Amino acid sequence: MNPMIPADFGLQFPSDFVWGVATSAFQIEGASREDGKGESIWDHFCRQTGVIADGSNGDVACDHFRRWQEDLNLISDLGVGAYRFSISWPRVRPTGAGAWNPKGIDFYDRLVDGLLVRGIKPYVTLNHWDLPQALQNQGGWANRDTTEQFVEYALKINDVLGDRIAAITTHNEPWVISVLGHKRGIFAPGLKSRATAMQVSHHLLLSHGMAVNALRQNGCKAKLGIVLNLSPMHPASDSTEDLAKTVTEDGLLLRWYMDPLFKAAYPADIIALLGQDAPHIQNGDLQTIATPLDFLGVNYYSRSVVSASGNWDVHLSGREITEMGWEVYPEGLTELLVRISADYRLPPIYVTENGGAFKDHYKNGSVKDPLRTDYIARHIAAVADAIAQGVRMEGYMVWSLMDNFEWASGYEKRFGIVHVDYATQKRTLKDSALWYKKFLQHQTILRSGNDKVLIPINQTEWNTVAAGA
Ligand code: FCB
Repeated sequence: MNPMIPADFGLQFPSDFVWGVATSAFQIEGASREDGKGESIWDHFCRQTGVIADGSNGDVACDHFRRWQEDLNLISDLGVGAYRFSISWPRVRPTGAGAWNPKGIDFYDRLVDGLLVRGIKPYVTLNHWDLPQALQNQGGWANRDTTEQFVEYALKINDVLGDRIAAITTHNEPWVISVLGHKRGIFAPGLKSRATAMQVSHHLLLSHGMAVNALRQNGCKAKLGIVLNLSPMHPASDSTEDLAKTVTEDGLLLRWYMDPLFKAAYPADIIALLGQDAPHIQNGDLQTIATPLDFLGVNYYSRSVVSASGNWDVHLSGREITEMGWEVYPEGLTELLVRISADYRLPPIYVTENGGAFKDHYKNGSVKDPLRTDYIARHIAAVADAIAQGVRMEGYMVWSLMDNFEWASGYEKRFGIVHVDYATQKRTLKDSALWYKKFLQHQTILRSGNDKVLIPINQTEWNTVAAGA
């Protein structure tokens, strides 16, 4: 038995709860110039000196473009019911406008069929950050015209894949695109302007609403949603300054996205704070953004501790920290899910990403990663706690299926439950993958006939259940 895994027994999940693993195109596909693929802003960004920690890029990544069948076999072997992946917009439409690339479209067509024959539901993300560079040259997400291009792209994907996929996510983590890409400049396209960042966030939300409306009008059968990166914000102290700063940070990360999506309004305190940097909003935009959704995706990794002085690292001393420097804080996931369900009228929620970067020890064909198993198990328990408190949850997906290109951190940070040896492209299931697989197997055993199921979470409990099965 792994002593790191908590022994909570009696986790309850709805019987149709969706378990999955997640990836994104730029992080795994490679083949960055093959079969007619156009350049993305991440291809472009990686060529600048000093922006990626290990000087790497996405040219080869996990070579998934060639090894997709092997990777689908891995996913199938895990026993998950769903795979969340993204489509590379410049692979299917190299310049973001103009001609489509049939070879790129074929790739996703085969991928989707490959998932279906293996009994895995495809969850498709349209924009996981790799905007065609040609559109960036026209201003990218800061240019309102990009919203129109995005709608064309969404409709095309619906035309070719819509009859076979379970869900479409418009954007992954608009906050990251806006703030890290356009304000702090540490992610593509590497700009540093608050006004641009806020305009970008508005255009991302607007294009989301436009795409959802257009997809519905075209009879799209897939569930439609968006994925946000959310965290609870905790003040570093109870000083007035820290408390005020916490409200602002929560406004910038959470309310800036949740309010327009679910209340058709931007938060007034943040609009006031932004002053001249507030985005230009046209009549009707907010109604478009607030179009009803079939699901909300939440990516959760950690909480934020906020101090007015900006010196919050000190509060992490003595806490468990991942290789990204992020605090392990599973109870924050429950807190977050309960809070957003109370503050907004929401469709069912998926945790669309959750996982951790930890040091892995590869030895004799196995990878010991007890900290990752512990992380995942405790966060699954946190989801169960949220469900017990009445939150409508529909699924949970591990980030990530396999080690991959972790953006500005390059290949140094490993989030996979499958290990990738980048020299040979050999994949090895880490212990965390074996644990997840076992978890899902026993869940299946327990499912039969019951509306609610009990999920054992430690080895002794697995053995008891398996013996009785
Ligand atoms: C999220 C991204 C995902 C991955 C994880 C660690 O912000 O959506 O691509 O990089 O962080």
